[in-house]
Amino acid sequence: MKDNRSAYNSNIYDENIVNTLPYYREFHGQIIDLVNKLGYKDVDWLDTGCGTGTLAGMVFDIRDDVKFTLCDPSQSMLEQAKEKLSGKDIRFINASSQQLEFKDEFDVVTAVQSHHYLKSDERRIAVKNCYNALRENGVFITFENIRMSTDESDAIALSRWTGFMTDHGKTDEDVKNQLERRGVEVLPITIEEHIKLLRECGFKSVDLLWTSYLQAGLWAVK
Ligand SMILES: C[S@@+](CC[C@H](N)C(=O)[O-])C[C@H]1O[C@@H](n2cnc3c(N)ncnc32)[C@H](O)[C@@H]1O
Repeated sequence: MKDNRSAYNSNIYDENIVNTLPYYREFHGQIIDLVNKLGYKDVDWLDTGCGTGTLAGMVFDIRDDVKFTLCDPSQSMLEQAKEKLSGKDIRFINASSQQLEFKDEFDVVTAVQSHHYLKSDERRIAVKNCYNALRENGVFITFENIRMSTDESDAIALSRWTGFMTDHGKTDEDVKNQLERRGVEVLPITIEEHIKLLRECGFKSVDLLWTSYLQAGLWAVK
């Protein structure tokens, strides 16, 4: 039994994720650069599905004006984050994005690889809760595995992902497990579907931040 909804238990997550997800480190760098450019000062930042706290750790390396709230439905992921970020003044909350009840509290809300487990109705609640949690002009930034526009293009993406994992030391069994999660445990949607949902949740601007053959980042301003 896994201790969270990612493919790896929390204590081996960090060492495995970089060899499983292409561009994993790029996501956090893109988010930090965008937030820096948006110019918020004394930032209230909610990271939902924070996992082991990688994003917050990277922000603390370069900024000292950020107050983090880190949420995750997995208590064991939160324990890893607490250990990694020990000594930092952080609010930790054991909750999923569907359970968040914040109102107008944050400048930045991030969800990195944490909403692609959700069915359509759950996903809508999660995104709406992120919207509600933001102040006016606050930004929601999400990165996820995406689905391509056709089965044929999706198959190419998966073939390229297989190549990445194999080149990074994953066994045939590991690769098979990852591919079998898609459509069952991981429910990716297309970029168009992301944009439509963000607009329907009320965001006044919705833009693509970054994309690869397998993942996308979007940013949306309240
Ligand atoms: C692949 S990890 C990503 C962790 C982290 N954001 C990162 O960048 O490494 C997925 C995380 O999403 C969390 N998660 C699963 N379902 C969630 C939900 N409904 N709302 C928020 N987080 C969720 C998992 O517990 C796990 O920590």
